[in-house]
Amino acid sequence: MDTVIPEEPDGALVTGRSERGDALRKRHGRTMDAATIHVYQDVGASRGNYLVDVDGNVLLDVYGHIASLPLGYGHPSWSEALRAGDYDWALAHRPALGVAPPAPWVDLVERAYLSVAPSGLDRLLLVGSGSEAVENAIKLAFLAKVGAVRGTAAGLSDALAAMANQQELPNRLGIASFEGGFHGRTLGSLSATRSRPLHKLDFPAFAWPVLPFPALRFPLDTFAAENAASEERALAAAEALFRQGTCAGVIVEPIQGEGGDRHASPSFFQQLRTLARTYGVLFLVDEVQTGGGATGTFWAHEAWGLADPPDFVVFSKKLQLGGVFFASTHAPSSSYRIFQTWLGDPFRAAQWDVCWRVIQHERLMEQVVRVGRALGQELERLVERWPRHLSSPRGAGTFRAVDCRDTAHRDTVVARARAVGLEIGGSGERSLRFRPALVFGRRHAEEAVGLLEAAVASAS
Ligand SMILES: Cc1ncc(COP(=O)(O)O)c(C=O)c1O
Repeated sequence: MDTVIPEEPDGALVTGRSERGDALRKRHGRTMDAATIHVYQDVGASRGNYLVDVDGNVLLDVYGHIASLPLGYGHPSWSEALRAGDYDWALAHRPALGVAPPAPWVDLVERAYLSVAPSGLDRLLLVGSGSEAVENAIKLAFLAKVGAVRGTAAGLSDALAAMANQQELPNRLGIASFEGGFHGRTLGSLSATRSRPLHKLDFPAFAWPVLPFPALRFPLDTFAAENAASEERALAAAEALFRQGTCAGVIVEPIQGEGGDRHASPSFFQQLRTLARTYGVLFLVDEVQTGGGATGTFWAHEAWGLADPPDFVVFSKKLQLGGVFFASTHAPSSSYRIFQTWLGDPFRAAQWDVCWRVIQHERLMEQVVRVGRALGQELERLVERWPRHLSSPRGAGTFRAVDCRDTAHRDTVVARARAVGLEIGGSGERSLRFRPALVFGRRHAEEAVGLLEAAVASAS
């Protein structure tokens, strides 16, 4: 039985009106980039899986604020917690958590975050966003690698070289990432991002190496030999690179999200992990988009069955803050090496605390597996009905995708979907991505595929 959200609409309903949204966009666009905005939301009216816009259009949301919405809209548990005063201490002001944290912060971190720590990783750094989390995971990896090569005690000449931006060892080392990977847009993380020129154009970058990603073709049975060969090639390239001794770390997404829902097999990741360990390259897993349950396990990398945990696991989105889990062996050897003013935010941590409680209480991870299987089957049948327009249904849990003919076709389908009441996103060159909240039920999956079919029909 799927979870029930009180007062959730029965279905999508498009009125066709857009005057209020248009007026807001015009005002907003005078000072900010409003071109990226899909709709202006009526927060009070949005409920469960349905996003209601300021013109009263009710959209079934399978995009979930770019995969960052754990419980959908207006879940009663949050307003109940606020009414009960459970988090009053977190509302007073935003504290500098590395200086004077409110006492309940320690409990909250243990309950909300350390309780979901990936196996083998017991240290935590909290920040604000996914990019910041990647950025700091990279810094932690450099501290670990440089510490291992040079020793943790830096001398005067190291300090002087650091002040001149001319440190020989760290500047010679790099972070390898995969073609098609997305790891954020801040200056450090951007050097690992490889999904689209748009993100990188005109910004300075580190000359860090890029590796081929297998990008499995679907259906897996049909392309078994080709896929095995492309994984072998990617692993051979990784080994050749790691052998050069110039990588501090390698960063990889369990499923490339932004880059087009591209997959690799558990065996690929197991072998990559082993190679990284063998050559002393730190293994960073970016679970910003995959973490938090949508793939059917809390962390997508749990499905790989690694004998040896990643060195760093990066998260954000559904967990409401950015952060990095890592093993105590990689903790900086001295304090204050990794630091910020906020180091998290009690209010956002409180929101995740409530979400995590509901996820467990309502058994939402089981729902994701059940509904994800049904959604996968529905998408396969949809592709069978539209073989010249759609292809490659794929995914894990409710984290799914299907390909359109090309970019123009995909963009038209996304626009038509919104016009019939489905808020869906694109990824990569020509994919449509499903990133619904964890309260996405069987009836929503059926409705979503029906609306998508209407969009595909109208775009053909
Ligand atoms: C895998 C991955 N890493 C990092 C990021 C960057 O996160 P943020 O946009 O919060 O900076 C994203 C955002 O989509 C992501 O999908």
